[in-house]
Amino acid sequence: MSVQVRPKRLSVTQIRQRKGGDKLVCLTAYTASVARLIDREVDLLLVGDSLAMTVYGFDSTLPVTLGMMIAHGAGVVRSTEHALITVDLPFGSYQASPEQAFHAAARVLAETGCAAVKLEGGEEMAATVAFLAQRGVPVMGHVGLTPQSVNALGGYRSRGHAPGEHDKIMRDGIAIAEAGAFSLVIEGTAESLARELTAVVAVPTIGIGGSPACDGQILVIDDMLGLFTEFTPRFVKRYRNLGDDIRQAARDYAEEVRHGRFPAPEHTYETPGRAKNAAE
Ligand code: KIV
Repeated sequence: MSVQVRPKRLSVTQIRQRKGGDKLVCLTAYTASVARLIDREVDLLLVGDSLAMTVYGFDSTLPVTLGMMIAHGAGVVRSTEHALITVDLPFGSYQASPEQAFHAAARVLAETGCAAVKLEGGEEMAATVAFLAQRGVPVMGHVGLTPQSVNALGGYRSRGHAPGEHDKIMRDGIAIAEAGAFSLVIEGTAESLARELTAVVAVPTIGIGGSPACDGQILVIDDMLGLFTEFTPRFVKRYRNLGDDIRQAARDYAEEVRHGRFPAPEHTYETPGRAKNAAE
């Protein structure tokens, strides 16, 4: 009898232990089909609230609901078995109080099967991170450019170039790490700031527009595949231009349908024993 041993998923503890070690490879994923393809290539998949823009066509992450995050999170968990899955808590589901955050996080963990949640914010969210961490909810922090605060920040510009802003983001990252987050996303900051923050916090930092010195990197999958082309932030590297491939595939299909070349005989169901011209 052969016993099949299923590979185990990476755990929060294993990710946490990668501080200063092998770089953590992270991507966002929103759908079962894509998550299944990339699961084995990465350490962590984030079901990011960036799906508001990439999947739903909103112009910010603010309209995403907890229900949307749960539906996508569950699909990604079901179709993967290697990467640690983290799901974003959406805007408005956690900022009011630690208790509100706990209820949202508990739903996400229970209804998706994911291992961790991510939330945005610095010093002002530290008590919430501690509240969750002490109650069994692994939390990934997110500081620097925090897209859920786009209205307060006045846009998506990179952060931490002025001395006051630099010091504030340093305090934010340190507060979230010390509150018990298992990792920390640093988005859209001065490179030197991300480097400095990585050096002082005890948990792995994950850069996106951060620094090569971060303990890991994350990109939005639609950006790196060339599927989302409305705008391209400086920190995006495009590894493929799948948008062009998809457009061309649709053109080829349209051409074949219009000229009667699709479907061909191999794409239709012939009744057995009934040759095409039998009745003639
Ligand atoms: O929502 C998202 O995709 C994110 C990444 C940019 C880190 O938060």
